Amino acid sequence: MRELVRRLDVPSPGRQRPRRLRSSDPLRRLVRETRLTPGQLLAPVFVVSGTGRREPITSLPGHARLSADLATELAAELARLGVGGILLFGIPDEKDPEGRAAADPSGPVCATLRQIRSAGLGLVLAADVCLCEYTTHGHCGVLRGEQVDNDATLPLLAEAAVAYAEAGADVVGPSAMMDGQVAALRAGLDQAGRTETAIMAYASKAASYLYGPFREAAGSAPSFGDRRGYQMDPANGREALRELQLDADEGADILMVKPALTSLDLLARARDRFDLPLAAYNVSGEVAMIEAAAERGWLDRRGAALECLTAIARAGADVIITYFAADAARWLAE
Ligand code: PBG
Ligand code: ZN
Repeated sequence: MRELVRRLDVPSPGRQRPRRLRSSDPLRRLVRETRLTPGQLLAPVFVVSGTGRREPITSLPGHARLSADLATELAAELARLGVGGILLFGIPDEKDPEGRAAADPSGPVCATLRQIRSAGLGLVLAADVCLCEYTTHGHCGVLRGEQVDNDATLPLLAEAAVAYAEAGADVVGPSAMMDGQVAALRAGLDQAGRTETAIMAYASKAASYLYGPFREAAGSAPSFGDRRGYQMDPANGREALRELQLDADEGADILMVKPALTSLDLLARARDRFDLPLAAYNVSGEVAMIEAAAERGWLDRRGAALECLTAIARAGADVIITYFAADAARWLAE
């Protein structure tokens, strides 16, 4: 029988040889489907008041809370590496129940935006818009009793977005998960004459345990309760797509899915359904898992980080927000 098959030269599954194109680095590179580029990465940066201030963030190795001058130095380095842009988070000196400092034109976010803008670095400047870093209770909106009051929060978010736009932000990123926040920001920006400021909507944002290191960095953990009353149930995929649709309809320019690695299915489905650019936030806990394991020698940090970022891009993300931005840009240049 074996002899017969050989003589007849019958193709068999064994003759499919996908390994052919895996046999050398140049061949693998030639047929690679997903290519990461530094220009698609946004680096989160935490800013505080003052000058010359650098407070290392223990839960995010290599990252620190920076004053505007040092954040500008970091931005210059990121620009040199070809990183696409930065996403700013502010930590105010004083918090209050309404998170008023979020819209302070002399606060750390606005100060940093003005400094980086005047340095002319050619980076995209994005600013996160939320109240949780600014409220005494750590919730993402103002409270009525123990509930977050959706509609009372909207004007405060819009006011913050306008302040960031006026300080030089190209992009504002509403992350509070209030219903109607994209429409509120668009209306506020347009009324202020900021029709060119883009909105990157945290559209599908799950109530995730993977934000832990970020909350330590930003001092934004809720003082009571949790965020499940406004952030999404991680179990819901159809609802995630509905959230994306709502934000697209409200005028979002970029749709974000977050966290990234636990939402690859959502990214893939969103890629099929929407023509807007998609962003994915490779959140602090996703990074912390790699950092902690690498520190113990349990996995290769560089390899694991690039593999995760590639998977996020393969799933459909155009823009990736990642704490690995600077390292990834260095690795990709090698
Ligand atoms: C604020 C905000 C959070 C993150 C981005 N914006 C934290 C939260 O919702 O509690 C998380 C980012 C990260 O974990 O890296 N609303
Ligand atoms: Zn928040």
